[in-house]
Amino acid sequence: MTEEATTGVYGNPPAELAEVPRGAVQFSPLLPGSAALERRDDASLAAMVMLAPPGTIERRHDVAQALRALQPGGRLTVLAPKDKGGSRLAKELKAFGCDFEETALRHHRICVATRPDDLAAARQAIAEGAPRMVEETGLWSQPGVFSWNRVDPGSALLLKHLPQLSGRGADLGCGVGYLARTVLAMPGVEALTMVDIDRRAVEAAAKNITDPRATIHWADVRKAGSFPENLDFIVMNPPFHDGGAEDRSLGQSFVRRAAESLRKGGRCWLTANRHLPYEDHLKALFSRATLIVEADGFKIYEARK
Ligand SMILES: C[S@@+](CC[C@H](N)C(=O)[O-])C[C@H]1O[C@@H](n2cnc3c(N)ncnc32)[C@H](O)[C@@H]1O
Repeated sequence: MTEEATTGVYGNPPAELAEVPRGAVQFSPLLPGSAALERRDDASLAAMVMLAPPGTIERRHDVAQALRALQPGGRLTVLAPKDKGGSRLAKELKAFGCDFEETALRHHRICVATRPDDLAAARQAIAEGAPRMVEETGLWSQPGVFSWNRVDPGSALLLKHLPQLSGRGADLGCGVGYLARTVLAMPGVEALTMVDIDRRAVEAAAKNITDPRATIHWADVRKAGSFPENLDFIVMNPPFHDGGAEDRSLGQSFVRRAAESLRKGGRCWLTANRHLPYEDHLKALFSRATLIVEADGFKIYEARK
């Protein structure tokens, strides 16, 4: 094996801030097809370059996983925007017992750390960020996953207004399966394809949803072929953040993919923050779009193909 093959990268660090060796193995759970860092053997990576995620528990977990997977003496380059966890990196690496150097560049903090000999603190952060059953929702989840330890109020509102669905459908951006659990309780539902870009959500969903009518894909909804077509119904709470920044085009892509994938007369049930401008998009792509309710800061739409 070449040295490059044992180097890892997590996410897409800006090229001007950190050099990623060619052939580095990608470990981000948000890039479908990537390897799973938590399943990597201890001391099996020569180096790792990581664009650390913004959530504290998630970031400490991921940095700790990287340190665990590094060979003794292995180097971790970890960076994040200053206001999205970057300013905390030094303190966190110190708590893990790492020797490191920190630089500041283009609103980022960049730390180059060496794996500590004693991994006890890292192992504790790994346990704190691990998948778990969340009592409040009754669902498996993990820090870092969307709304990981509470029910999203927009999703709860959608479930209150959802009619009895039937036939073949999809849950786009299914998360850990909160909407799917209710949809699959409907006897008329013949099949439900669940799709999410986050491997941790997909793995939790696979534990939460064992109904044989469900199939769960780790995929990007925007990509053609990521779920079936000619569907009778779609449910979704589309994302509006990409990499921490508001990205309205992401939700609009979900709306477009829903329109493309429904049969004529098929229906899309959607929940969205009231400030998001989906209405014109829905009206342009569907034969009819109805605002069912506006409450608690959310809007529920039914759009008919
Ligand atoms: C607002 S959350 C809804 C989660 C879940 N359906 C619920 O109601 O609790 C949006 C979900 O879309 C996923 N997501 C974001 N971008 C995606 C993409 N391009 N393809 C598939 N899923 C995506 C996120 O990982 C997240 O789980």
